[in-house]
Amino acid sequence: MTNGKDPALRWRELAELVEDARRRYYVSDAATLSDIEYDRLYRELEELEAAHPELISADSPTQQVGGERSEMFEPVEHLQRMLSLDNAFSLDELDAWAARIEKDLGSSPPMLCELKVDGLAVDIVYENGRLRSLATRGDGRTGEDVTYNVRFLPSIPRTLTPAPGHPVPDLVEVRGEMYFQLADFDALNDEMLALGRTPFANARNAGAGTLRQRVDRREDELASALERGSTSIDRLQLDLDRAVRRLELLKLVVHGIGVWNGHAPTSQAEAYEALRGWGLPTSDRARVVASTREVHEFIGYFGEHRHDVEHEIDGVVVKIDNLATQDRLGSTSRAPRWAIAYKYPPEVVRTRLLNIEVNVGRTGRVTPFAVLEPVKVAGSTVSMATLHNEQEVRRKGVLIGDLVFLRKAGDVIPEVLGPVVEERDGTERAFVMPTLCPSCGTTLAPAKESDVDIRCPNQRSCPSQLRERVFHLASRGALDIEGLGFKAAVALLDDGVISDEGDVLGLSAENLRGSAFFTRDGGEAERPLTANAEKLLVELEAAKSRPLWRVIVALSIRHVGPTAAQALAREFGDLDRISAASVEELSSVDGVGSIIAEAVLDWFSVDWHRAVVEKWRLAGVRLAQERVAAGPRPLDGVTVVITGTIEGWSRDDATLAVQEAGGKVSGSVSKKTDFVVVGENAGSKLDKAIALERPVLDASGFVVLLEHGPDAARAVATIGTP
Ligand code: IVH
Repeated sequence: MTNGKDPALRWRELAELVEDARRRYYVSDAATLSDIEYDRLYRELEELEAAHPELISADSPTQQVGGERSEMFEPVEHLQRMLSLDNAFSLDELDAWAARIEKDLGSSPPMLCELKVDGLAVDIVYENGRLRSLATRGDGRTGEDVTYNVRFLPSIPRTLTPAPGHPVPDLVEVRGEMYFQLADFDALNDEMLALGRTPFANARNAGAGTLRQRVDRREDELASALERGSTSIDRLQLDLDRAVRRLELLKLVVHGIGVWNGHAPTSQAEAYEALRGWGLPTSDRARVVASTREVHEFIGYFGEHRHDVEHEIDGVVVKIDNLATQDRLGSTSRAPRWAIAYKYPPEVVRTRLLNIEVNVGRTGRVTPFAVLEPVKVAGSTVSMATLHNEQEVRRKGVLIGDLVFLRKAGDVIPEVLGPVVEERDGTERAFVMPTLCPSCGTTLAPAKESDVDIRCPNQRSCPSQLRERVFHLASRGALDIEGLGFKAAVALLDDGVISDEGDVLGLSAENLRGSAFFTRDGGEAERPLTANAEKLLVELEAAKSRPLWRVIVALSIRHVGPTAAQALAREFGDLDRISAASVEELSSVDGVGSIIAEAVLDWFSVDWHRAVVEKWRLAGVRLAQERVAAGPRPLDGVTVVITGTIEGWSRDDATLAVQEAGGKVSGSVSKKTDFVVVGENAGSKLDKAIALERPVLDASGFVVLLEHGPDAARAVATIGTP
């Protein structure tokens, strides 16, 4: 554990690291370690102390609660100590906690599960129903007085109103979390970037940074600047406005009680009822449960729906519900024994930006992307993240060599949030967008002067673009050719088996033998094909009679995705008719605007594009379909929302199936939604469907809808129940 080091030395090292991280975290609001790094060090320290109790001293970080006070603020003594929470990083650890309690009590008590809000802990004291003080946690005994900010915090009531059965005590101390809603948090970080500052790694730091702004001092400064007619008035005014605007966005959720003078509640749930009755914001997601199985379910549900909650959560807090039982179990010097925080994996981590490279896409667009020191975040290892375009790199203010914050929220693509400016050592360098294509050396330029993106104009033979186009034509949204993935596309091009996408559909066994990727070592003169290559040949044959719209998508015409391709196929029914159509004819099609019409016309005006079509025609690709434009389709005018994982369907395929039948797929449930198709792990959309009483279909109901239409589907749908 001490890596062969003297335990006392390692203890000092760890204590200093943890202490330093804490000071920065609590005092300067700038985290220097990710939560996971901090937790790891803290745990090592705890384990070391358990093995060598002689090392524990009063000033060990394990003996402190929370952070330290910053000197800039007036101290406030909390009426009752604000404790922290012990953490469980696995369900096993959580169960061990519950088992200990059950053993202590001789029975398993009801537990209250609620979300662990990623925010800033505050302590609010009301005396005779009027707010007396608002303070941060500080070291748990003494916090910082931020009462002067209350007038800018609409979520904190200045007075409490008595509720039926819950008179307001003459003195009550409530605890809660101040937080930002996700959208506000993102906007705040954009503002930080624009100011050239380190973005907030999490909502807690943002909350601390915001609540601890000395708005009162800024007002004084501004007032005296106005008196003096100082030149800094504008800057001070701006600064004050920004501080106030940020404060106004802070929200409160109450999750605990300190001192309570008067008729006390018997349970945590009842306490919440009283607090809610008095006008304090409580969470409506708290649940009282009877077993650890239900606790697991709660944790599992919000693990899946973490991003359906309007604020950041970093876990679930489980509390013994009965307050007398809480008292009986008591607390250690740091945390109560009657509560535990189950932590979800972190979604923001810090890592090194090793380089910024550029990628040349299918349509020639040149996109910078971050090459990162590989780091585990939200369950997967990330080593690359797109940076979109040069402006975005500037906006984020990241330099090559920077330590950066990286966010990967669930299945959302990883995003570099911004640099940790404080950690720069001067060796970092700015990214310079290349002027030549890294793939083919052609001079890069924007397609139009006004474009943000720059492109490689060598569309026909730039190896990067070619590769991406071949890969795209085989993708599931286009000709759906299994066995033609990225590696196969690279092999076909690099080994000279194809010269462009025109050659793909006509590939023969003989052609594939020209690439080692598709052949096995047979020792004979005729090299045998791999099983994958054999399969590819079968797939290619099948691809030749795919619906026309898939062929159109496969051509890689700018702006033409499945929706526009379906509209074109439906209206014209024949690729030759599309290529001969005028801009007016094209843009008169429902779902095809003038931008798409121009793009189609441009595409067909290029010789080698038409040559691709001819090669496909020669290979036997079906370029026409029976016209269906005239007849109505089964799902014309029907709007469907799809949520969760539908068994047997990918999201793309389910969407396409609805669209092919004439229906519309929408992202949100409203009164206008005709059907909500629900799979595994459906989220808030299902709740909304139930609330709005929309017909809900499962996977088999979905098939009924596609095959037999809306009337038949209505007969098998459920309404108002999941
Ligand atoms: S109860 C004595 N409930 O997490 C127990 N805390 O990591 C007091 N937090 O200091 C805490 N959401 O600031 C509780 N639903 C919740 C919470 C919550 C967030 C914070 C709280 C606490 C910290 C511990």
